[in-house]
Amino acid sequence: MRSAAVVPIVTVDGPSGSGKGTVSRALAKRLGWHLLDSGALYRVTALAAQRAGVDLGNEAEVARVAASLDVQFSEGEQERVLLAGDDVTHELRTEQCGEAASKVAAMPAVRRALLDRQRAFAVPPGLVADGRDMGTGVFPDALLKVFLTASPEERARRRYKQLIEKGIDVNLHDLSREIAQRDERDANRPVAPLAPAADARIIDSTRMSPEEVTERILQWLREAGVMTG
Ligand code: DC
Repeated sequence: MRSAAVVPIVTVDGPSGSGKGTVSRALAKRLGWHLLDSGALYRVTALAAQRAGVDLGNEAEVARVAASLDVQFSEGEQERVLLAGDDVTHELRTEQCGEAASKVAAMPAVRRALLDRQRAFAVPPGLVADGRDMGTGVFPDALLKVFLTASPEERARRRYKQLIEKGIDVNLHDLSREIAQRDERDANRPVAPLAPAADARIIDSTRMSPEEVTERILQWLREAGVMTG
């Protein structure tokens, strides 16, 4: 008989600026569960490839980089990402890195190379997994799948605010255009396109605060009998 209980997983997928990062972080904190920021893995892969002088168009080489990533995520108040011991937290958040991540994320070999690493985050007491294909590809048996959306204008506005607060200089007009292009690439790529799982619950957060979205998800978990602390 299998005695190990299945690790409860909540997946939060959606486009850039939908608020999934903020909501996933808040959920993980409230539940006392682990957090997987899968976008950061694609960003780290792109950065590691660039640092190694690998051409981002060379799928096999980028996949090799993804498979052998020396990356550490620290949880808690001071979330940090270390690449080969080097703190790359800030660099990962730049639009340039997001752009490069979107390119490598479209490569099937890269996605395959990162699959086990993502699944390894599913350890007790539970996991909140944030990304684009968490509910459709990586954790198809998740307890609860959420797909978060917001209007393109609102998403651009949120990203703008976030980046400016982090001291990253951007222009709202350029950002809107870049977000639209990235959405297009993420939604139309042949491998793991951004789309809600058939059994996902969809939340349009255009007129909702992150707290309201988090509370709605916690309510669904309570209804499912999961202790939400
Ligand atoms: O969420 P983010 O902006 O950090 O993601 C960076 C890029 O990685 C984005 O273009 C989409 C891609 N991505 C993906 O394809 N699959 C995921 N699970 C997470 C991110």
